[in-house]
Amino acid sequence: MGRLVVVSNRVPSPRERSHPAGGLTVGLKDAIRGQPSLWFGWSGQIAGRASGDPTPKRSSQAGVSYATIDLTAAQHRGFYQGFSNRILWPLFHYRMGLVEYSRDDLDTYLEVNELFARCLVPLLQPDDVIWVQDYHLIPLGAALRKLGVTQRIGFFLHTPFPPLALFGALPGAAHLIQAMAAYELVGMQTEEDRAHLQQSLDANDVKAAVIACAIGIDPVEFRSQAVAASNGPEVVRLRESMADRALILGVDRLDYSKGLPQRLMGFERLLKRFPEHRQRVTFLQVAPVSRGDVAEYRALRRRLDELAGRINGEWAEFDWMPIRYITRAIPRDTIAGFLRFARIALVTPLRDGMNLVAKEYVAAQDSADPGVLVLSQFAGAGPEFPEAIQVNPHDPDEIAEGLHQALSMPEAERRTRWHALDAAVHKVTAASWARDFLAALEREPLHGA
Ligand code: F6P
Repeated sequence: MGRLVVVSNRVPSPRERSHPAGGLTVGLKDAIRGQPSLWFGWSGQIAGRASGDPTPKRSSQAGVSYATIDLTAAQHRGFYQGFSNRILWPLFHYRMGLVEYSRDDLDTYLEVNELFARCLVPLLQPDDVIWVQDYHLIPLGAALRKLGVTQRIGFFLHTPFPPLALFGALPGAAHLIQAMAAYELVGMQTEEDRAHLQQSLDANDVKAAVIACAIGIDPVEFRSQAVAASNGPEVVRLRESMADRALILGVDRLDYSKGLPQRLMGFERLLKRFPEHRQRVTFLQVAPVSRGDVAEYRALRRRLDELAGRINGEWAEFDWMPIRYITRAIPRDTIAGFLRFARIALVTPLRDGMNLVAKEYVAAQDSADPGVLVLSQFAGAGPEFPEAIQVNPHDPDEIAEGLHQALSMPEAERRTRWHALDAAVHKVTAASWARDFLAALEREPLHGA
């Protein structure tokens, strides 16, 4: 295989390249490790432009070349905030009620995909393999084909994909589905997502090869980060502040797909229904603000501020605060140490493409005394993790029961469950994800052939 060209909306900033913040960029970092690669995408910067296309800024670090372009304020509004995050994101998470459709945003989304294609084409080499990532860039393959690109192109969707009845409600749905035909291979996180996309392809009479290929983490690296952080000053401070109480930990972007209000209410139900845990547990939710210029995200933040304040006001004692709630980002290695220390990870998205925090929690555990994962049945990680305590994240009572079960679980059962989860985390990794997808992509006949 020639060079791997990865295209994603977000490209890690130079500082993040050795310590990526999480999610997609972590998986990709491992995917491109050790092979000649170019990573192309948005710089994260907004720039004014008199006319014409931007010139990609080039840099390289640890054997990977990076090329990024700035977007104008109007492109950022229509493409990123608008069509990607006010339309596709809620729709792909089954939240039609939150979709704010605008044809102007669709037009800008298509225009920015064409801009990406025009800026990328001059950087391509004949034996490159191109791998396009995520919902921001669905039509990029078609835009590249229009410009005469004949190299192999794969696409991977990191979010869930909804059933036809939901997806079909999107104006322009058929156009997006037709764009899938430009790829030699399309990858989805789970079998359920694959089946849903297949429904939409069949309904529009579009032929595309689709596989389910779950993403993972690098469990060996993450565990060593967690072990190293365990004696670091932050974890020591956290441990001392807990005064022998059990830590329940949640770590998520502040996003309505993560089920955070229901999670706080679930924790409150635990205190109400299982009084033996009062004053004996602390729930720490780390929820760094995300997409804060989209109204729905701002509304969610207000709701969480209010809920956390109300629950604490109602249940706290003068020497115990039940909920600690942080909306700043915390460095990844500190989080690794927190995850290792936590008795329970509470990972209850209403819908999630995969959820790598669930995998990180498992990888971070001490095998002699592992904690318990309480996981939404609607996370993409669910099918790989039957040994987690799975709950319906819409039901605070079920969350409370899951927490009670986890807090009461005998050590032997914790170990048995964790061993099975840990085996799953080592079976599907970031490296196996990239290897399996790219091998399947190589096997597909070239469109032009
Ligand atoms: O798939 C999840 C995802 O949308 C990634 O594409 C993205 O990089 C991450 O979440 C964080 O979101 P954002 O780039 O909008 O900050």
